[in-house]
Amino acid sequence: MAKAGSETVVVVDFGSQLVQLIARRVRSQNVFCRIVTSSASAQEIAAHNPVGIIFSGGPRSCHEDDAPRPDEKIFELGIPILGICYGSQVVCHMFGGRVEGASSRQYGHTIVHVTDRGNPLVHSLPDSFRAWMSHGDTIYHLPEGMKQSADTETAPNAIVYWPEKRFYGVQFHPEVVHTDVGDSVFHNFLYEICGCSGDWKMADFIETTVNKVREVVGDSRVVLGLSGGVDSSVTAMLLAKAIGSQLSCIFVNNGLLRLKEEQEVQRNFSGKFGLDFHYVDAADRFLHALAGVTDPEVKRKRIGHLFIEIFDEEASRIQNVKFLAQGTLYPDVIESVAAHGGPTAKIKSHHNVGGLPEKMNLKLVEPLRELFKDEVREVGVKLGLPEHLVWRHPFPGPGLAVRILGEVTKERCDMLRKADDIFITEIKAAGLYREIWQAFVVLLPVNAVGVMGDERTYENAVVLRAVESRDGMTADWFRMPQEVLNRISNRIINEVKGINRVAYDISSKPPATIEWE
Ligand code: XMP
Repeated sequence: MAKAGSETVVVVDFGSQLVQLIARRVRSQNVFCRIVTSSASAQEIAAHNPVGIIFSGGPRSCHEDDAPRPDEKIFELGIPILGICYGSQVVCHMFGGRVEGASSRQYGHTIVHVTDRGNPLVHSLPDSFRAWMSHGDTIYHLPEGMKQSADTETAPNAIVYWPEKRFYGVQFHPEVVHTDVGDSVFHNFLYEICGCSGDWKMADFIETTVNKVREVVGDSRVVLGLSGGVDSSVTAMLLAKAIGSQLSCIFVNNGLLRLKEEQEVQRNFSGKFGLDFHYVDAADRFLHALAGVTDPEVKRKRIGHLFIEIFDEEASRIQNVKFLAQGTLYPDVIESVAAHGGPTAKIKSHHNVGGLPEKMNLKLVEPLRELFKDEVREVGVKLGLPEHLVWRHPFPGPGLAVRILGEVTKERCDMLRKADDIFITEIKAAGLYREIWQAFVVLLPVNAVGVMGDERTYENAVVLRAVESRDGMTADWFRMPQEVLNRISNRIINEVKGINRVAYDISSKPPATIEWE
């Protein structure tokens, strides 16, 4: 939907965990980029009309029979290529260089020494710098015509270049923060080698997208499911700017929201921006559909189906609807190679409005389809969304239902909402909210014995979950200061009737997941 900047860089994914980070690094230099899989042909890559190509790292050794290789014709396109780690090794291997397993795997910080200043990739880099390595293979001999530009104590070809093929390679990972000169490496590649002008800016994105939406939508009506989260809120703001009163937003209160969330969404959007706002209070219907259900997947399915049913009912009352808007982001549409080479297994079925467009015979409008989460936030700020909304932690579609283990009832929802609000309030008061990817409380289906005053109690136990993460794919438990935990625990037990025990979850993902269900 959104029009990319005129300059595009294509990142070829060889199965790197860091491929999205490479893309973010490029975009933060104001150059648009797309990710394609390593099976993309030269023709497919050329169709993006790229000014530069980046080969990512990857978990494989280029000696393995089925290790991914780029299409050799890519080298005939005459477009500069930056190879990172595996992306360098595989090129050397393909063109007759010698790549072998290093005597010991290089992992962690290494000092890189620049040996030849002729390579524009090393312009402005200091003579020595600290870089992050993570590889099992090393390039020992270069193909004919390729030159060394830097080495390390154990890797003779830490940076290489091949003027004839316009190929530039690094053995380290410039995309991770631990490489001191990472930004300079990308800057040199993009600006000195590819000749970029840096035309990818969020303000331009807004303008281009607004024009494009107007063009596509014409005078039809667009309907949007507004959840109050960052993605759907930014989608609403962007569409409101583009088509104002032609936008109808449907906000379904499923009774599984956080404390006072339904009031907040209404306050932010109802009667604002000229848009047509529909509030549907369906809390009772959702609770009824969940009565007696304890299986997490059944909960998700019932919530998903009912949401579609209600959305459909409400939307069918609106005239002349031709489009359904969705807050789909770029990570949702990238077809990345999983580390093991195949599609990633379905761990949990995620709830979205899948099935709706066909059912309602609607076309899709997805104005954020090209953006990463932090870009969406930037757009949100530029469009005037309140800070706290823009930085809000992600919240799952099935809401509190997957945080109440066992049966979901109104009483349990209310209890969890209060505990969750205390947790978040205290995290914010301690200034930790932005450091945490997601924080929430989980209500367990067990009672624990306690004592309050002289009375024995037998009440609910909750778990606090707070994680650090870059994208939700992997996560580590947040090292919460003890005094903050202490305050939270005291407040929850004293203020929330029915809870007498608080635990802290110290599992990482994998093997655990972020949510408990
Ligand atoms: P897990 O629990 O799979 O969560 O580690 C990863 C991220 O996805 C969110 N999540 C969901 N989001 N519908 C959603 O819209 C779902 O059913 C769902 N389950 C998990 C979770 O909150 C985390 O951000």
